[in-house]
Parts: sequence; C-alpha cells; structure tokens
Amino acid sequence: MTPIRLAPSILAADLGRLAEEIARAEAGGADLIHIDVMDGRYVPNLTFGAGVIAAARKATGLPLDVHLMVVQPERYLEAFADAGASNFTFHPDATRHVQRQLVAARELGMRAGLALNPASPLTLVAEVLDDVDLLLLMTVNPGFGGQHYIAAANDKIRRARALLDRAGGRIWLEVDGGITPETIAAAHDAGADTFVAGSAVFGALDPANALRELRRKGAVNV
Ligand code: DX5
Ligand code: ZN
Repeated sequence: MTPIRLAPSILAADLGRLAEEIARAEAGGADLIHIDVMDGRYVPNLTFGAGVIAAARKATGLPLDVHLMVVQPERYLEAFADAGASNFTFHPDATRHVQRQLVAARELGMRAGLALNPASPLTLVAEVLDDVDLLLLMTVNPGFGGQHYIAAANDKIRRARALLDRAGGRIWLEVDGGITPETIAAAHDAGADTFVAGSAVFGALDPANALRELRRKGAVNV
C-alpha cells in the first residue's frame, strides 16, 4: 500500500487563530499544511498571499503545501519561495510555459507540483513528468471548501497512479476536495498517497482527532 500523507487545508481553519489551528493539526499528526491561494480570476474566490504563507511558516516546521489557483502563477514564484513555501503547485492551464515554471520552482528550492481540475486530462502533465515532484488531482471543482467528492475521480486516480509508476514512482499523487473519513479509503486504494482535507479537519470539534480518524480510515482496504 502507498503511504498516507495528510495535508490539512487552512481554508477551513479559524483564521483569527491561525497559529493555534496549525499547532493543533501538527499535534494530530499532519504531514504538511495545505495553503490555498486563490486570485478571484482562475477561481471565483479570493484567499491568501505571501503574508499568510510567512505567518504559517512561523507557526510550524511542517512543509507548507501551497496550491495556487491563480492565473500566471509564475508571478508568485519568488515571493512564495521567500515566504517559506515548500511545495509550489499550480494549474497547467493557468500559464503558457508550464515546463519553465516547474524548473523555476525547483531552482528556488521548492517541490514543483501540477494540479488538474476534474475535467482536465492527464495528458496535460504527461510530457513534463521529469520536471514534476507532485501531481494534485482535484476531486471537486476548485474554489471552495466543503464540496462533495466527485466519485468518478477514483478511476482517474488509478490511471494517474499507473502513469506515475511508469515514470518511476517518485512523484507524489495528491488528492484535494471532499476528502472525509468516508471518501479517503477509496482514493487511497486507487493510488493516492497525499490527502488534502479542509472541512473534515478544521470543521471538526477536535482537529487532531479528525486527522487520526482520516489516517485510520484511509489505511483500510475498500
Ligand atoms: C478547493 C481547495 C481545497 C479545499 C478543500 O478549491 O483546493 O484545498 O481547501 O476543502 P475540503 O476538504 O473542505 O473539500
Ligand atoms: Zn487546495
């Protein structure tokens, strides 16, 4: 079985107590902290920038998994690297020169990630796998937390797993959107190894317990 990395998304956290929320997630065994950057153009919603990444960097030693839902993500490469981003994941349909931005992210010391919307084919990433450290499959349409997992994603996860295995199995396969104790096992069984969860963690009364529950349910064969 593939490992399980949990990446709670601060989109669902109480932002007035961000450092405390991150500490609670860390105490519950989070492997990464997921930060959703939205620009109101690539997606309708508007969220965080480098200031919040820097605040999260101060609050934890965990890697910061930054997910850019913005047009022209290249405009933020340096600022986010400086703020302490560990993973720089963007949508290939949001920029003209995908391979150049992947190389630039690595040169700045970040892991380079590509994110695909539910309707985006895996062929969008197939030609640049040498330059990719992480593939994020959206299991909802990006823009908002608290949506329902799109079940058809499980088949896409399986095909992505096969593609990444053929490329040597080095690349992380992350899923994002609607991950709950009910959906995580099927996504893991299909081959995902990294799981973003916003409302299932920070919407719970006890985020640390919610993370333990996700890990326990994710490890079960479906
Ligand atoms: C959605 C974001 C997700 C979001 C997930 O556009 O990319 O990371 O925080 O939230 P939940 O887990 O509530 O679906
Ligand atoms: Zn995300």
